[in-house]
Amino acid sequence: MAHFPKPPEGSWTEHFPELGTDPVSFEDSISPEHYEREREAIFRRTWLNIGRVEQLTAGEGRLAKHIHAVGAEVTVYRDAHGDIRAFTGGSRGIRRPVTDVRCETWEGFVFVNFSDDDPTPLRDYLGRFAHGLEGYPFDRLTEVYQYRAEVGSNWKLYIDAFAEFYHAPILHAKQYVGGESKKLQGFGYESLHYDLDGPHSMQSAWGGMAPPKDLSMVKPIERALRSGNFGPWDRPDIPGLDPLPPGLNPARHRSWGLDSYVFFPNFMLVVWAPGWYLTYHYWPTAYDQHIFEGTLYFAPARSARDRIRQELAAVTFKEFGLQDCNTLEATQKMLETRAVTRFPLNDQEILIRHLHKSAGDHVAAFEARV
Ligand SMILES: [Fe+2]
Repeated sequence: MAHFPKPPEGSWTEHFPELGTDPVSFEDSISPEHYEREREAIFRRTWLNIGRVEQLTAGEGRLAKHIHAVGAEVTVYRDAHGDIRAFTGGSRGIRRPVTDVRCETWEGFVFVNFSDDDPTPLRDYLGRFAHGLEGYPFDRLTEVYQYRAEVGSNWKLYIDAFAEFYHAPILHAKQYVGGESKKLQGFGYESLHYDLDGPHSMQSAWGGMAPPKDLSMVKPIERALRSGNFGPWDRPDIPGLDPLPPGLNPARHRSWGLDSYVFFPNFMLVVWAPGWYLTYHYWPTAYDQHIFEGTLYFAPARSARDRIRQELAAVTFKEFGLQDCNTLEATQKMLETRAVTRFPLNDQEILIRHLHKSAGDHVAAFEARV
């Protein structure tokens, strides 16, 4: 039985009829040949987020990234007029003529696009979900913690792992105190709301642990620090968090905890009710390999206590991330046996259905053009 209201059609899946209800093939995640087609049709032709504008004022004042799927290193800098520009000089270590690359920003996030094929500006490309987030104080959440991992799976499989939340009470059972963990397993973790916009998707979920209803629901260190699985419990005292931008908490639910966005192809943004956010990037390096980057953004700590709360949230996030990616190499190997080739997906897996369809549609549309 559903814990939260479903659309009038009876299920989220049927609410988006373009997704269909058929079992889904994951051949797109186990074929080296298909990965080459994705490099050409997706990574060389869509807006890719490579970081934030704050990185342009730190260190050497440049933001450089080697993007394997594109086969190029891109460098972003501010020119003498203060405009943000990007260029690519070919592969790392090889000096080649420098070529300008399209570069635009949205709310301080720096995106590049290696193709001039599609003139759609970044803000139009990011669509309705991005517009609904505008005004969020991303520029004030500048305390950054980042983890990076080399993962032995197709890039889409890790997005899939973060695109459904019902695994949490089972896979992350050890993150909760024993009794609470059992209760959660009985209840299940169900999202409040799902939405799609072109190739992008989002889900909204409850967040009963920040702060918990009852302090016995969490571990002693979380009680002592007022921080944990869902980040620091208390909102930082910065403007822009009350009221929140209109796109957040679309179901207007009292127990709202987080909104998680997938901006196609490989950029996820997770905004948490207590005033911090996360980004995930999935950079493919082969059909069965990718580099994962998980980055946490907080308001700068004003006290040692703030700092320790952030550190606890960051190390707890690392534990979560390890639990999530722990399953991926096995998933990849299992899919590669092709013992089963089509998989039923449930109503909480519509973002997975949507991601594989969007990626496949991008490849098909590009190949139909050329
Ligand atoms: Fe997880």
